[in-house]
Amino acid sequence: MRAFRPEPIPEADLDRILEAAWRAPSSNNEQRWDIVLCTDRAQLDQLSRAWTWAGHIAGAAAAIVLLSPHAEAGDFVEFDLGQVTMSILLEATDLGIGTCHSAVGDQDLVREVLGSPPDRQAFVMISLGYPADRPLRPIARPNRKLKSEVIHRGHW
Ligand SMILES: Cc1cc2nc3c(=O)[nH]c(=O)nc-3n(C[C@H](O)[C@H](O)[C@H](O)COP(=O)(O)O)c2cc1C
Repeated sequence: MRAFRPEPIPEADLDRILEAAWRAPSSNNEQRWDIVLCTDRAQLDQLSRAWTWAGHIAGAAAAIVLLSPHAEAGDFVEFDLGQVTMSILLEATDLGIGTCHSAVGDQDLVREVLGSPPDRQAFVMISLGYPADRPLRPIARPNRKLKSEVIHRGHW
């Protein structure tokens, strides 16, 4: 979903999405994340400039930024943040709300927009809103590798 209609998302739905994010499982239950919800139009516009392919955030009703302490390679924190992300996506979809991920290029810009501390890295930004580009339903032929290439039953 990369284009959204202008309507805002009801507060109760945003609360449900944040609750799902907060409930996500993590390695050793460490919960090394901060979850920032943005609905302010100027903030969304600024966040959309933090990465080349983050333009969809400018037109979104809201965005959630996930931050964590800097992680070394092999640290499970990125896996955990992936689980928070998926929880947000699933809860939003259940509420009829579309989403799109964005990576983060300009960490300093995100810190300036959110006022987040220097020891936190923004891991991903997720735009949220009511879809304008396509209906919110499973894609009949998703752009995926062949199942036979990646799904193995019992042995290779
Ligand atoms: C870690 C991650 C980063 C992503 N970053 C971007 C991004 O910066 N901009 C964007 O438009 N989509 C981004 N995406 C969305 C992927 O491009 C998208 O999930 C993939 O193309 C599959 O599309 P589909 O989920 O609509 O089938 C990202 C996805 C992931 C998992």
